[in-house]
Amino acid sequence: MKLNILFCASEMAPFAKTGGLADVAKALPKALKRLGHNVKVVIPRYYQIDKNNLEHIPGSIGIPMKNETLWAGIYKKEFEGIEVYFIDYELFFGRSGLYDEGGYAYTDNDKRFIFFSKAALELAKFLNFKPDIVHSNDWHTATQPILLNTALRGDDFFKNTASIFTIHNLQHQGFFDKSGFEYLGIGWEHFNPFEMEALGGLNLMKGAIYYADIITTVSKKYAEEIQTPEFGFGLNEHIKSHSYKLFGILNGVDYDEWNPRTDKFIAKNYDVDDLSGKRVCKEDLQNIFGLDRKDVPLIGFVGRFAEQKGISLIASAIEGLVHLNAQYVFLGTGEKWAERFFSDISAKYPNFRVYVGYSNELAHKIEAGSDLFLMPSLFEPCGLNQIYSLRYGTLPIVRAVGGLDDTIENYNPSTKEGNGFKFWDATRDALYNTVKWAVDIWQNDKEGIEKMINYAMRQRFSWERSAKEYEKLYLRALEFKR
Ligand code: ADP
Ligand code: GLC
Repeated sequence: MKLNILFCASEMAPFAKTGGLADVAKALPKALKRLGHNVKVVIPRYYQIDKNNLEHIPGSIGIPMKNETLWAGIYKKEFEGIEVYFIDYELFFGRSGLYDEGGYAYTDNDKRFIFFSKAALELAKFLNFKPDIVHSNDWHTATQPILLNTALRGDDFFKNTASIFTIHNLQHQGFFDKSGFEYLGIGWEHFNPFEMEALGGLNLMKGAIYYADIITTVSKKYAEEIQTPEFGFGLNEHIKSHSYKLFGILNGVDYDEWNPRTDKFIAKNYDVDDLSGKRVCKEDLQNIFGLDRKDVPLIGFVGRFAEQKGISLIASAIEGLVHLNAQYVFLGTGEKWAERFFSDISAKYPNFRVYVGYSNELAHKIEAGSDLFLMPSLFEPCGLNQIYSLRYGTLPIVRAVGGLDDTIENYNPSTKEGNGFKFWDATRDALYNTVKWAVDIWQNDKEGIEKMINYAMRQRFSWERSAKEYEKLYLRALEFKR
């Protein structure tokens, strides 16, 4: 059955990206299209997305917001076979950041993203594209399942539309002052602790969990974890009571982009049959950062400098880590203290280098040029970089949470099986000891390392497989809806 899918997200690579959501919003629609479905992606037209490269669609769509109607413009672009639509509203999206600026969240984020969510649904009407599925992602589009099962319930256009809501990160819930509720345009009877009220405020994600026909999250392990107090960010009980419709589907990798055989950013292409190119990539990365020792492993880190990524844990262990027989290259931006801290460490220790900023090219070079990849997250819904690392033969050192636990198999020295190194406790010693262990194995167990690299590089986390799982759930959601 060919489905009409309206896929809505707040970011999509390469147009606007702060993290993995953008990678998913690019790759999953492509994979769904390859399965034969009709997919339209909708994102906001942020300031950084140049209008001149987009097709302007004549006309505008009116969005009721409290006592007024706001009119949005529409742009479009065919991208890698996918129709991408951009909601244009200068006042909300003509800003330098997506969600924040200078470390401060925009104070009207409730209004901005409720508006965007409504506009995307209106766009479907404008295009006369009757969706079988509205697939909403994270709090930014959490408004959609809420409206589809309240205000739009009786709407003829959406009468056969089911909603899927994917949680990519439960930490960010879209929690606002209750005044934000009025932008939804539904009755106050829905503002209660079962639906979307939390601590007297509006919690959009909570509402989506209540209303979506199906909820998914981006790994099986995370689907279990979010039902516990440790990972539930206050919503664990709420999620538990809706777990009958909760499923975990692991993200895939867009191997068109993350593939050492074809990667355009790296010094020399390589693959599992001939790793000489990987050595060239390591030298290249070392040259960029002024590192030169060949006899020690290079450990890479790419990610947002956010607590989620275990940056405090790394900071607490750093004095030990830099005294190991290893070199480090970090790429990231985010928390100011971390940017300063890692820069200071870099000034102090010649074997530790950091690039504070955002660089896709460097992210690729680090994946290819490192021997080991550090990802000691406190929680990780899926995590993409550890999966990219596998394809590049760069063995991950991870904390066993969420998608990291689902994708990384701990090295077993007696069988020489595994594809990385894992630890469980979120402690300085557990992190330090595991990095130390990985460095020792790299130095002294070449056979084990080769076997792991060989296995890791042959593994495939295809989007096709994930897309097929989503397809099943879409059909289930439609059934559920009927
Ligand atoms: P999250 O979505 O929590 O940030 P993921 O591992 O799912 O984590 O995805 C992160 C994505 O963002 C990856 O594609 C990674 O390469 C990219 N990324 C993160 N920080 C940077 C950076 N400073 N420069 C370039 N790419 C980055
Ligand atoms: C989130 C999560 C990350 C996941 C990504 C894409 O930002 O933090 O673990 O890989 O979304 O689903």
